[in-house]
Formats: sequence, C-alpha cells, structure tokens
Amino acid sequence: MDGPSPVHATIPNNLEAFWMPFTNNRQFKKAPRLLVSAEGMHYRSHDGRRILDGTAGLWCVNAGHARPKIVEAIKATAQELDFAPTFQMGHPLAFELASRLTAMLPTGFDHVFYANSGSEAVDTALKIALAYHRARGEGQRTRLIGRERGYHGVGFGGISVGGIVNNRKFFGPLLAGVDHLPHTHDRSKQAFSRGQPEWGAHLADELERIVALHDPSTIAAVIVEPVAGSTGVLIPPKGYLEKLRAICDKHGLLLIFDEVITGFGRLGSAFATDHFGVQPDLITVAKGITNAAVPMGAVFARDFIHDAFMKAPDGQIELFHGYTYSGHPLACAAALATLDVYQEEGLFARAASMAGYWEDAVHSLKGLPHVIDCRNLGIIAGIELEPIPGRPTARAFDAFLKCYEKGLLIRTTGDIIALSPPLILERSHIDEMFGMLAEVLRGLD
Ligand SMILES: Cc1ncc(COP(=O)(O)O)c(C=O)c1O
Repeated sequence: MDGPSPVHATIPNNLEAFWMPFTNNRQFKKAPRLLVSAEGMHYRSHDGRRILDGTAGLWCVNAGHARPKIVEAIKATAQELDFAPTFQMGHPLAFELASRLTAMLPTGFDHVFYANSGSEAVDTALKIALAYHRARGEGQRTRLIGRERGYHGVGFGGISVGGIVNNRKFFGPLLAGVDHLPHTHDRSKQAFSRGQPEWGAHLADELERIVALHDPSTIAAVIVEPVAGSTGVLIPPKGYLEKLRAICDKHGLLLIFDEVITGFGRLGSAFATDHFGVQPDLITVAKGITNAAVPMGAVFARDFIHDAFMKAPDGQIELFHGYTYSGHPLACAAALATLDVYQEEGLFARAASMAGYWEDAVHSLKGLPHVIDCRNLGIIAGIELEPIPGRPTARAFDAFLKCYEKGLLIRTTGDIIALSPPLILERSHIDEMFGMLAEVLRGLD
C-alpha cells in the first residue's frame, strides 16, 4: 500500500446511482470519503492519506486487512470451485469449516447453519427457535423477547426483536408477539465503569415480569447481544447474563446470544460465551468469521435443538430454511484461512493481553471536553459525548469527520463514539488512536 492506486484513486464521475446504506446520502455525496485500499491496521483514502482503522471496518476485520493467507485461499477456491449448491448437495469445505467451528465452541454446540450476514443469521436463529418448539410439540411458543437498544441487523425478525427506534418506526407493525427487556445502561449508576458495571444485574428480573404477563407457555426465545455494540457499546452488568440464563432455564425459553460483533476474539476469547462463562442455546455470528473478506454468517446450535429436528419422518427435509449462498465455497475458504490466522497468531489471546492497556487508554479521555462517559471491554470502547442542545448526534458526527481528516476511522452512533480496531493492533496504534481522538475532542464545539 505504497500510494494511491491510479485506477481507483479518483472519485467516480457519478455518485448518484449507489443508494448508500445507513448513510446521509446527500451529505456524503457533497464531500465523499472513499477508501481505495487497505492493509494491516490501515486504509488508504482516495486522496492518498493513510487512515488508521479504529473500527476494524465495521467490527469485522479482526485479523487486520488484506491478510495474504486469506486472499490466497479465496483466489485458489474461486479457480477450483466457484459455487456449489448446499440444498440436497454439498461440498467438502462447508463440512470442514463446520467441524473447525464446532471444535472452538463449548461442548454440546455441535451444529452450524450457514447464512451470509448477521441479519440472516439472526433471522435463522429466530426461525430455528420457533420451529424447535413446534418440533417438540410446543408450537404455541411463538413469542420472541428482545431488548431495548438491541441491534440484530435489519431483517424483519432482527428489527422486531431489536430496540432501536429509527430502525423500527418506518417499517410498519413488524413481527407480532414480540416483547422487549429494558436495556442495561444507566449513566447515573455506571459512568466510567472499567469493564462490567457493578450496577444493573437486577434488570434481568424484568424477564420474570414479561414471562408472568404472557405466560411461559407462549414464549419461544430471548435474544440479546452479550455486549451491545451498534447502539453505543453497552456492557452487561456483572451477574446480568447469568440471571437471564437462569430465568430462561426456569421457564423453558431458549437463550440466543447474538455474537455478530463479540464472536472471534473481540473480548479476548473466541466467543462472549467463553468470556462471561454463560452458555446460550443458539449463537449467531458473522463479520469476523471470514475476517469480512467474503460475506458469511452462521448460527451455532446446541445438540438438543438440532436433535429435535432429526426426529422428523424419514425422507422429510427437517428445516425448511436456507439461502442459495449458505456455505458458499469462497466464504468457507475465507473462513478456514481466517481461523488459521487467528490460531497461528494467537490473536484472541493477544486481544486479552492488550485489554488492560486499551482500558487505560480509553479512560485517559475522562475529563476531556464533552466526554460524559467512557466504557470498555476486551478491545471495545464506547466514548459518550454530551449532545449539543437541540442537535443530537451532531457533536459525535463532527468528531467522526475531524478524526477522518486527521487519519483515524471511528464509528459513531447517536453521540457515542465506538472503537473496535483489528486485534493485531500494537500499543503504538493505541497511543496514536487515542492521541488523535483526544486532539479532536479538545477542538470540538
Ligand atoms: C449484534 C449484531 N447483530 C446483527 C448484525 C447485522 O449484521 P449484518 O450487517 O451483517 O447483517 C450486526 C451488525 O452490526 C450486529 O452488530
């Protein structure tokens, strides 16, 4: 990545055709920010600047950009087997990958269903939960419980159980029979917590209230992000996830952890379930599974769930669900190579070993102008800014633009800055990242 590629470095003549996702299109197209290449911890912008990646793309490039082993695996597979269906057919890489993945999971998680994104993984998990209860003769368990401020992608299932108002309010009545737990964040009790906040485990008891309201016999599953990312980094209070697990067990509800951002090392362990020592029944993943080099999502299912489907009559398809690209050969090849890189470089342990230095750097921002909270876990940070009165989101977005100008990619949601860099980062990258961010914060209105 020695300089801008002459082929890609110019701004396309016409930016109109691409209707950009989760973007203020009109604003972007007036002053576009294009990334034209990437390597390791850095992007290169169209105007030739090196941009330190403080967000691993979108929480997904955990092993850093353009890793040769992953690139080579994709190239070789594209030549060998461009596509193979997995409906009533198969190909070896899909089976090999599933075995590799289940070997990383806690005992009893021996089955993988493939999707192509986090949103699809979530819809798949919700459908498996519903169909599981039906398969065992409790088809009246149709309710799904999500959480306020939860993000589970943008499918109708995901936005129904999700709790972000702008992702819901434009799209009609959504799925019927969904209820929501309260979110777990209260700045007055938790501000500047290092790691898991002490306060808030009791919020899981709200599940008892919801169960009492609807009756357990109507509820299929509860879905939460172990650490909520997209809604501004909400770290679970100590004891909270354990309580959710116990209440689900008491009432026969499946517990789904959406590990689309926490999976593959972000907390310094393979999965959040390992970090917190709490086992759900279904786990959704995406992003880091292929280091984002090819889209892929997956659901990991505990054996008792999978086995309930295998009692269907002989000759019958057990689960009427799947995507043309479930287990796409290129995604499988990318994922296998990604798992090699994680393993060979010990990247999850590396993240764990960097977490203390990271935490100190995050909390060094306390006291800077507008900073009303800093929170962290693993290699994740949330830095909350006081909103400008009457202009919510404007201050954080200004920080985003100024950081980009300086050479740092951050992500903002509301007035919260979220950081989640690749796990290959060095201490010097952390110093550089927080140095730039502090300078920007000092210069904000
Ligand atoms: C927890 C969680 N679930 C689901 C998704 C959706 O993933 P995708 O954008 O790949 O559909 C995301 C994306 O950020 C996420 O953070």
